[in-house]
Parts: sequence; structure tokens; C-alpha cells
Amino acid sequence: MDYQNFQRFLNSRIKRRNFIIGTGALTGLAIASQIPHPRAIAKARFSDYPFKLGVASGEPYPNSVVIWTRLAPDPVNGGGMPLVNVPIRWEVATDSNMRQIVARGTEIATPELAHSVRVVVEGLQPERWYWYRFISGKEASPIGRTRTAPSPGNYVNKFTFALASCQHYEQGYYTAYKYMAQENLDLVVHVGDYIYEGPIVQGRVRQHNGPEIKTLEDYRNRHALYKTDPNLQAAHAAFPWIVTWDDHEVENNYANAISQLDDDDQDPIEFLARRAVAYQAYYEHMPLRPFSRPQGPNMQLFRRLSFGNLATFHVLDTRQYRTDQPCEDGVKERCAGTFDPNATITGKAQEDWLLEGLNTSQTQWNILAQQVPIAQRDMTPGEGATFSMDKWDGYLASRNRLMSFLEQRKPSNPVSLAGDVHSHWAMDLKADFDQPDSTTVGSEFVCTSISSGGNGADTNPTVAAYLPDNPHIKFYNGQRGYVRCLLTPINWQADFLVMSNVTTESGTISKRASFIVENGRPGVQQV
Ligand SMILES: [Fe+2]
Repeated sequence: MDYQNFQRFLNSRIKRRNFIIGTGALTGLAIASQIPHPRAIAKARFSDYPFKLGVASGEPYPNSVVIWTRLAPDPVNGGGMPLVNVPIRWEVATDSNMRQIVARGTEIATPELAHSVRVVVEGLQPERWYWYRFISGKEASPIGRTRTAPSPGNYVNKFTFALASCQHYEQGYYTAYKYMAQENLDLVVHVGDYIYEGPIVQGRVRQHNGPEIKTLEDYRNRHALYKTDPNLQAAHAAFPWIVTWDDHEVENNYANAISQLDDDDQDPIEFLARRAVAYQAYYEHMPLRPFSRPQGPNMQLFRRLSFGNLATFHVLDTRQYRTDQPCEDGVKERCAGTFDPNATITGKAQEDWLLEGLNTSQTQWNILAQQVPIAQRDMTPGEGATFSMDKWDGYLASRNRLMSFLEQRKPSNPVSLAGDVHSHWAMDLKADFDQPDSTTVGSEFVCTSISSGGNGADTNPTVAAYLPDNPHIKFYNGQRGYVRCLLTPINWQADFLVMSNVTTESGTISKRASFIVENGRPGVQQV
């Protein structure tokens, strides 16, 4: 389905109201052994079209991929499903018309997971496109398209993906996703702030669906609101995604069990309960593998995905295990806490896992797909220095260990990808950021937001004033958009795409700048 057809399909389905379907062909008998809960299986019966949140796929391996949907005829009001298990069929085909079916099956959508459904489709061929859809009763989902990864060690001469983050629903339209959906990509990588937890703020281009979210139902309804966006749905339907979260999937600038300062839920036990429901709703709405299913307030999100001999994504989670932001967070001069050798942004287990993975990686490009910028950003022009304590800048022990590892062990072509800061950046990673002549040990591309922050502007006088203090920063732009990355064995090209505006639905997209990283030569170069 191309983008226009996808839009037409979606509109035709969503416009139908109060359409009660008849009994579906499925009965509980054939699938009784798969019932995850003793609850009886209900005939699929929906108050309205149940696939209003679209479909998604993700976590591509050479022989398997995750496909996802959620039954939600009334998306922002609890989903609108009765508290019963509902069977849902799925099909995977090698053609866009779903004629050459290569895999099919039935899953049970349960109230425990908000009637979300994920299928790990196995037995697929590497490095090829597949189409998929879900059917329940007489209703069919939109058709999604996905792609498997190349086999380990296989030569890959070209791999393209988009890097995105930060999609505040109220602050702008997701028109960037409309353009992304029409690109020729193998993958989308989303590095967090997929939802925002805040209340309705009047006067914005769109509205949230209620006050600040705190309960499981709140988080589910907020995810559902975001997922009703047709442009976001189109980008999910067009490519597999690799996702990781940042802070707003739970709460602004939280750190592990510690709530944002000045918030009312300071008690870590209370905050962990909130984190648990936020993680639960995140899992329910993302095409993640089942190993990520949360256990209480804990969720396994850091993981590794490889694409032939070309690239490994070391996907990080710098929120769940970090120590509290030093110096009471914010943009500050360094205090003692920034030098604390026990402070960590990844936690020890994840850091060990990352360094081990970098050390043993067999691929040419080693990508740290993570949340917050690693490179130093001194935000005070001239004398004095201030840093954002929520980024790697606040966790010097963690960053120093990573930078010395890169300098000494020289893993193949390390490139960090980050988001969070609602602006585009191209930066060199330095052995010592205070010594411009020190070794460049890696490269970093930070993507701007899809919509967060409204239209923005190309330049920002505050940033422009401190850029000379940061010679390893090669590019800044403060508009909305995403970064398109084209990887080959020769080099990595990053195109910084920007939106003319996001406060109307008709914004246009253009390429603001392109940078490359040459194979074997750390650092970003403008082209
Ligand atoms: Fe954000």
C-alpha cells in the first residue's frame, strides 16, 4: 500500500461508525491450547473499527520480525474493548496484495495487554520485504510492510534508515512522518519521547486528551492518542522500527527511581509504581520482542541488532539505570557530583554489556542508538562553563570510560545517535573534549524533534554564541525534522532534513545539510 492508498484505507475505515460486525469465522476450539488466560474467548465483536491505531513492525532479525497491532475501537477512552480475550488472525505475504502468504496464525488479544498483539514471525528469508495484516471477525487492519535484516557476515553494500525523536502531539503536526513514509528506507530508529506525559495546554495546534498521565489507563490512552495520527501510522506501516525510550515516556528528566525534582511524587516507591505502568503501556504499544515485557518497574530495553557485516545497533537505555542528575539537574557549572566516579548514566551491567559488544563486534559500523547527546556542550560563551546535567555531560565518569575505551580499543567506526534536545547536531567525539587537539574517537549525529518545540528556527543566537567554545561541534539547526542516514562500506552519509513548519499540516521538507563519516576515520565532515 503506498502512502495515498494507506490514507484512503484508513479514512474509509475510521469514518464508519457503530458498525457491529457479525460472528467471526473463528471459534475458541482450534486455538484453545494457546489461551494465555483461563478467560473464555469471545467472538470478535467491535463497537467500531478496531484497527484505528494502525499496525507496526520492528526488531528485524535475518529470519524473523515482530508485527504489532492493538484492538482499540475507542482508542483514547480505554480502547473500547470488553474485558474478554479476542482471537486475531495474522498473515505475512511476499506481495503487497497479500496473495503469496508465507506465514499465518492466530494470537489472542487479552485485556492484560490492552488487547495489543505482537507476533514474532519466524522462518523468514533475510534481507527482503514482507507485507502483513491482522484480521479479527470481519475487520482487517491496514497492510503494513516490513523488512528482515541481512544475515550475519553477509556483505551489504547499502543500508538506509531514518533517525527520529520527540513527537509532542500538541506542539506540532507529524508531517515529517508523511515525508519519511515516502522515502526508500530499510528501517526507522526512534530514540525516545514517543509520547509526552503533560496535561492539556490551551492554545496549541492540537490537544492532549487530559491531565498529566499517571495511571496505566492514562498512559494507554496517551499512547493511543499519539498512535491515531495518520502520518505516524504511515511511517510505522512502511518500515520496521527500532525504538528506545527517553524520559517523557514516563516523566520529564526522571532518573531510575527518582522522579523529576519539584514534582509531587518524590517517594521512589511511588515513582516506581508509576514507572511500572508507564513501561507497561510502552511495551503494549511498541513492536518490541517479548523479552522486553516488563516485570514490575523493570524492562529489558537495551539490546543489539545487526545488519550483515555492515552495521550493529547497540540500543541503549540511559534512563532506567542512571544515578540522579548531579547539581540538581538543569544547565549548571560542574559541581562535585559530575565527577563522582560512582555516578553512571547506563548502570554497570549495561556499560559492561556495551563495551563487550563493541569489543567483539564484527560489523563495520557500530551504532550507539541512545537518548541524550554524548558530546560535550559548554553552554556558556567565553569564560566559565555550564553543561546540561541530564546528558552525558552530567556523568563524566561514564563518558570518560567510554571515550577512553574508544581511544584504546578502537572498535570499528563508532557512531552515536541521540535525540532529546529538539535540534540537529553533528559532532566529533573526543578523547578529551577540553583539548581540541586530542584524538577524535567517534562521531555523533543528534536528530531534532518531529514536532516538539513548534516550528523552531535555523539558528539560535544563544547557541551561536557558545559554538566557538565547542570546536568539536560542526553543525546546529533548530528546526523540526529528522536525519536520514545512508551507510555503505565506504562512508556514512547523514542528511539533516528540516520542516518549513509544523504548525500547519502542509509544511514542506528540505535538506539543510549533509555530513559524512569516512570508514576508518572518526569524525564528521560536511559535504
Ligand atoms: Fe523531547
